[in-house]
Amino acid sequence: MKKIKINGGKELKGSIKISGAKNSAVALVPASLLSDGVVTIDNIPNISDIDALNEILEYLGAKVTREKDKMIIDQKNLENKEIPESKAKKLRASYYFMGALLGKYKRVEIYFPGGCSIGARPINLHLKGFEALGANVIENGNKYIIEAEELKGNNIYLDVPSVGATVNIMLAAVKAKGLTIIENAAKEPEIVNVATFLNNMGAKITGAGTSEIRIKGVNKLGNGFTEVIPDRIEAGTYVIAGALLGNNLKIENIIPDHIESLTLKLKEMNVPLEIHDDYLIISKTDKMKKVNIKTQGYPGFPTDLQQPMTTLLVGCNGTSTLEETIYENRFQNVPFLNEMGADIIIDKRKIHINGPKQLVGKEVIATDLRAGACLVLAGLKASGTTVIKDVEHILRGYENIIEKLKNVGADIVLVDE
Ligand code: EPZ
Repeated sequence: MKKIKINGGKELKGSIKISGAKNSAVALVPASLLSDGVVTIDNIPNISDIDALNEILEYLGAKVTREKDKMIIDQKNLENKEIPESKAKKLRASYYFMGALLGKYKRVEIYFPGGCSIGARPINLHLKGFEALGANVIENGNKYIIEAEELKGNNIYLDVPSVGATVNIMLAAVKAKGLTIIENAAKEPEIVNVATFLNNMGAKITGAGTSEIRIKGVNKLGNGFTEVIPDRIEAGTYVIAGALLGNNLKIENIIPDHIESLTLKLKEMNVPLEIHDDYLIISKTDKMKKVNIKTQGYPGFPTDLQQPMTTLLVGCNGTSTLEETIYENRFQNVPFLNEMGADIIIDKRKIHINGPKQLVGKEVIATDLRAGACLVLAGLKASGTTVIKDVEHILRGYENIIEKLKNVGADIVLVDE
């Protein structure tokens, strides 16, 4: 079984280059099915989630060519087949094949998606959107059969600004007859990335990135090109590493606006950082002030950085609080941090982090992707050796994380034992 071993306390200096965004790429790849031609997606991160999506594409008959971080997908021989449980279960983003195949063929058969154990993660809003467009949803065991005589544009209000539901409804609506309006849509940058890609193929989408997205149905979608935007969560994770151990650590290939909720908090905490047009420089300080954070949808503080940020707050003077408003079970990293010497109290959807505390290396377990990232950061900061088990969670969401950290001075290895 793969484990990550870290000897902590090493100063981090030099430069880390951010890869393409996982949460964009996992939507762009299924979205490519809507084209009747050939599409190219550039800056694709080399992570196992993408491999799992490729497997589904090729299973459906698409021809996928990978050239470094470029993916060329030829849909000419595509056929609409049931997506088996073994493939759908591998990741949550397999649910984007629902919107894409429904939008293209007016029918899709697919098993329930997988995904991290951070909450119930229902997809009721996705299904409500498909039904609003005229589709009939049948749940047969743990498989969905979704089909429509005709897809017609409609006004759809999302009770929760769900990222997945916003993207999935967009995919199903691009070839529907007439106008679809998604109200209370999620505003994440990844949604803009997908809408731009679809428009490049010939779709007519406006308002992506705002809470009202309008989609005018078109008959055909042709060849397309797009580039995956930099991963704001990967960037945020390494920015936090810089706040923990950096000596003018450079984080490059970023869009500063996309992580402004984090950088503003770090400034509030007295962390020295310089922000430039597509990179930032960050160093640690021993005088970090405590802070209160509440996770929100974009542009608020992202839930995906809540767990990595917890590691930083352990070193703050005083009691910081972190309130998780998006998921009901996203504190599984806390018991392991406390075993390493932190003093964190869980109080329903809020945690109180009493600091400053010095972490000591321990054997810990990555329960989910961002909990794993939190524990990598803790291992980098802790004195002694930290061993992290179940690291597949981490490797599926952070391209070359071991190399990227080693290159800036971390004493970190991936072992197979
Ligand atoms: C996306 O998940 C991301 N995953 C998540 O990142 C991210 O945490 C989340 O958006 C919020 O930003 C991908 O993009 C693959 P949601 P998604 O639908 O789309 C509720 C990571 O670490 N909800 O915005 O599944 C849901 O329960 C992952 O990279 C419904 O109630 O998130 C949650 O409480 C983790 N009904 C809230 O909305 C629905 O039909 C937000 O979920 C859908 C969602």
